[in-house]
Amino acid sequence: MRTRSAAVSAKLPVLWHGGDYNPEQWLKYPEVLREDLRLMKLAGVNALSVGIFSWAALEPEEGRFEFEWLDAVFDSLEQNGQKVILATPSGGKPNWMAAKYPEIRRVDEKGQRDLQRARHNHCFTSPVYREKATTINTKLAERYGKHPALVMWHVSNEYSGECHCVLCMEAFRGYLREKFGTLEALNDAYWSRFWSHTYTAWEQIEAIDPSVHGLVLDWKRFVTRQTNAFLEVETAPLRKITPGVPITINMMGTFPGLDYQAMAGHVDVISWDSYPAWHRAGDDAHEGMRTAYMHDVNRGLKGKPFLLIESTPSHVNWQPLSVPKRPGMHRTASLQAVAHGSDGVLYFQWRKSRGSAEKFHGAVVDHVGHENTRVFQDVATVGADLAKLSAGPNGGVTGMSTPAEVGLIYDWENRWAIDASQQARNEGKDYEPTVQAHYKAFWARGIPVDIVASTADFAGYKVVVAPMLYMLRPGVAEALKAFVAGGGTLVATYMTGWTNENDLVHLGGWPGGGLQELFGIWVEELDALADGMTQRVRAVDGNALGLMGVYEARQLAEVVHLRGATAAATFMDEFYAGTPAVTVQTYGKGRAIYVASRNNAEFMDALGAGLRKSCELRGTFENVALPAGISATYRSDGVADYVFVMNFSRLDQTVKLDAATYHDALDDKAVAGSVTLKAYETRVLTRAAR
Ligand code: GLA
Ligand code: ZN
Repeated sequence: MRTRSAAVSAKLPVLWHGGDYNPEQWLKYPEVLREDLRLMKLAGVNALSVGIFSWAALEPEEGRFEFEWLDAVFDSLEQNGQKVILATPSGGKPNWMAAKYPEIRRVDEKGQRDLQRARHNHCFTSPVYREKATTINTKLAERYGKHPALVMWHVSNEYSGECHCVLCMEAFRGYLREKFGTLEALNDAYWSRFWSHTYTAWEQIEAIDPSVHGLVLDWKRFVTRQTNAFLEVETAPLRKITPGVPITINMMGTFPGLDYQAMAGHVDVISWDSYPAWHRAGDDAHEGMRTAYMHDVNRGLKGKPFLLIESTPSHVNWQPLSVPKRPGMHRTASLQAVAHGSDGVLYFQWRKSRGSAEKFHGAVVDHVGHENTRVFQDVATVGADLAKLSAGPNGGVTGMSTPAEVGLIYDWENRWAIDASQQARNEGKDYEPTVQAHYKAFWARGIPVDIVASTADFAGYKVVVAPMLYMLRPGVAEALKAFVAGGGTLVATYMTGWTNENDLVHLGGWPGGGLQELFGIWVEELDALADGMTQRVRAVDGNALGLMGVYEARQLAEVVHLRGATAAATFMDEFYAGTPAVTVQTYGKGRAIYVASRNNAEFMDALGAGLRKSCELRGTFENVALPAGISATYRSDGVADYVFVMNFSRLDQTVKLDAATYHDALDDKAVAGSVTLKAYETRVLTRAAR
């Protein structure tokens, strides 16, 4: 689909550039606040997130509010040409509040109430905290809702964590009552006769019992649900008082504690905080691939552009080792986000704090206080780039879609279920790395991919890849069958269709839930290969996927029987030598492919090549192979394409172009034949949409 979404705000219909701005830390330094305004212009900054941790400054004591300082920030930013993303302050609760209302402090699973410290640790059920958040959010909306600088709400900060207080446990049991109706239904779903765990009263249900997997899943679902409930409390006054102002929360990639796929519907804009570990290993191509994947996960949450709302201009201070970005890396990391669908590049934070936990975290303005630093100049370069990329008709690349023909399933609930399960190989279950290994085969070919939940609509895709889809949520087996019957190609792997949404195993063999018919196979056993052991996989001559020769499997392999499918490869070793390792079955107008083992990179690459060819997948370039370490992707509105070519290696590289007519959008000149990229360099080319 080539379309253009509306910009996040009509007040700022270009790519956003800015970051977290914490002027409340500098109120005693008016000269610093004045200097910020000069530097913001130099850096080409147009949007600042303000007030994220300002509660104590806004409400220094209960019921007494001080907004004058924030009024001044709003007015001076507006006059200076910057817009405000206004945060609600619930991410950090004031000390007076935590002292007066202990119930807002979280309780851990052993019943211990937390001390007031750090941040992101409120009870999400507490009526007091909900009321306090409602009051401050209402006042902020009333005071700033009509201010010309306000472009978006940034609700709280990085929601996370769980609480086991009496109120939360009551709410959890209420959720289970609503879900199951009766204890008998709950006991059946949880298979609770096992180890004599039959519940005979709702009050017996505790949140933590790793042996009852249905319960483990429901507790995780509840934590997301209760976070959503708190989010709804926070946004109610915002939606009422400022109906036109979009709402976002800053998410954390594939953070396992919250199901972002179940949160996306509660916000208007998806935003996320990206902190890759560049330069830690010799090879930044892997980190480039992983970061591309994360951006695509975020774009997939709503199927439209998102915002990179935090990133570091240089390095963080919480990774075991965080290497300052090498020349070029900041620009490439920033443009990579835009390449994958971000409508902006924002940082944590604008100015380095003088004290406390983040005083040595990278920032746009360093303690030295002026613009003559490498980091500041890198940021200013990105500011100029984003202005150029916003300059075309209708905001240039702003709002443009990503034309993906491949849907790759990454599903939070499935991840939780796999993580909770105890099985033959508990070390290296590796759900997410496995999804990424499939992603890489497309990324390396410049083929755009959407990353979606198992419950997504697959209609627009030529290919759907469903790695390790262990748990089948309601309706998923039927949707996959309909997708293939209608002409799609589905790729699934070992560990498909073992359980239902309560983690009860499908009886009658794997893949369960009706999928044996789709794949034309029955899986009898899972073999766990010890570390270092391999199982050879030999391509069958003339197979439909173009596999050739011998590949290697590691860690996991299944014993498969054909029930209508054709083997495209077979295992060579162990008691199941000669049995199918890869199968293909025609089903309706499409094909269902099953990969029975965890295979090496050569196999994944060959599978990617086979899918590209047999499904006629379009890459960013026609018939151009990308050198190792180079990635290419594009955005389009159906009129123009913006093509991003990124070098994640330390070598200069030349990339051939196809026959389209290209223009370099950053250097403003025509290019043809090929482009040469220095180490960590990115080029952005435009062409007529194809
Ligand atoms: C997170 C938080 C920020 C800051 C950064 C540091 O993303 O949201 O407040 O702590 O990490 O990397
Ligand atoms: Zn609680």
